[in-house]
Amino acid sequence: MWHRHIAKFSKMTFSTRILPADPKAIRFIDDVPVFSDKITEANVREAATEVARLGSVVAFPTETVYGLGGSALDDASVKAIYAAKNRPADNPLIVHVSSLEQIRRLILTELHQIPPVYDKLIEKFWPGPLTILLPIERGSPVLQLVTAGQGTVGVRMPNHNIARALIALSDTPLAAPSANASTRPSPTLASHVETDLNGRIPLILDGGACRVGVESTVVDGLCSPPMLLRPGGVSPEEVKEFGGAPWQNLVLAKKTAGKLEPVRTPGMKYRHYSPTAKVVLFNNCGNGKSAVALYLRDRLEKAALLRTKHFVSVQEMGLSNVIERSMGTTALEIAHNLFKDLREVDELDVDLILVEGIDEADDGLAVMNRLSKAASEIVSDS
Ligand code: TXA
Ligand code: MG
Repeated sequence: MWHRHIAKFSKMTFSTRILPADPKAIRFIDDVPVFSDKITEANVREAATEVARLGSVVAFPTETVYGLGGSALDDASVKAIYAAKNRPADNPLIVHVSSLEQIRRLILTELHQIPPVYDKLIEKFWPGPLTILLPIERGSPVLQLVTAGQGTVGVRMPNHNIARALIALSDTPLAAPSANASTRPSPTLASHVETDLNGRIPLILDGGACRVGVESTVVDGLCSPPMLLRPGGVSPEEVKEFGGAPWQNLVLAKKTAGKLEPVRTPGMKYRHYSPTAKVVLFNNCGNGKSAVALYLRDRLEKAALLRTKHFVSVQEMGLSNVIERSMGTTALEIAHNLFKDLREVDELDVDLILVEGIDEADDGLAVMNRLSKAASEIVSDS
């Protein structure tokens, strides 16, 4: 039913401006940004004015991926987010704040505080790549369009000076999904946002590459046992280690949703993180020599290979016509490079992107979660 309202916004066009901003030129005194560079200050202030305007959106860097932010308290802004991304409105949005005080003042009603189950996680991981679910009660100013009608709202405090300054200066809690067109890999550079949303949004703050490279971890501590709804920049092992007693029993959400169930984690119901080329994921295939050669035998398509830990080079595989990138050997390096490398080889007009999977332990879980959603075929040796 929401889709119909959104359609009329999608006709809007803009000449998208890209404004540079240096995260190192910002520091905070009592949650107030102080700038040491005039251009950064002017650009962040301009973006803050823009994003506080009703019905408007701005793309900005966070430590995870670039976000497309609009006021979580303004219907027209949230509709503009869905319209620019072409995203279905039954997928809830995360709300970004720059301080705990903003949560209490702008998101929760006077009646309730942040549930104590999150105290230790907030202490350890905020600001940072962890999203928590808070209860929504009647009278809460957070819109149904943000929560997709669920009784909770996902909230996080990003650990990025530009994001934090933008939210503090606008004093606006920002609903912000990743700033890619729906179904595309998430953006980790301003140029990725430009590729997907040029002409569809007024401006992009360019703060360079995102450090983490995959989205935040989403946890629900309101249910018992607590649930991990989306793996991300904080590993489940870290949540268990630092969250305190209830988090010892953390369970991982199931991977697929039936058509009639509400969407609890991204990619459960829709195609996600997909380049144009077909992505093939290789699991447990050793050094890759035989599995990759076997897969490519008799195939004439142009292929790229994204290596991680164990695969040898395409030269060693005897496949010198295959384009290759090494994404790194640790889960953190691979997470950082994953979306960028998927986009880069996709732009070389390959038909196939073969990707070497990694172990799902620790930070590997978020990487493998994104890869299994991007892949339309999985090759496994065991
Ligand atoms: O790292 C990130 O979290 C990025 C950057 C921009 O901050 N943002 C991001 O937002 O990924 P978004 O809106 O795409 O994430 C939405 C996902 C939903 O698909 C769902 O998995 C979870 O977050 N989520 C949000 N609100 C929820 C809710 N009320 N109940 C259950 N899951 C929720
Ligand atoms: Mg996304």
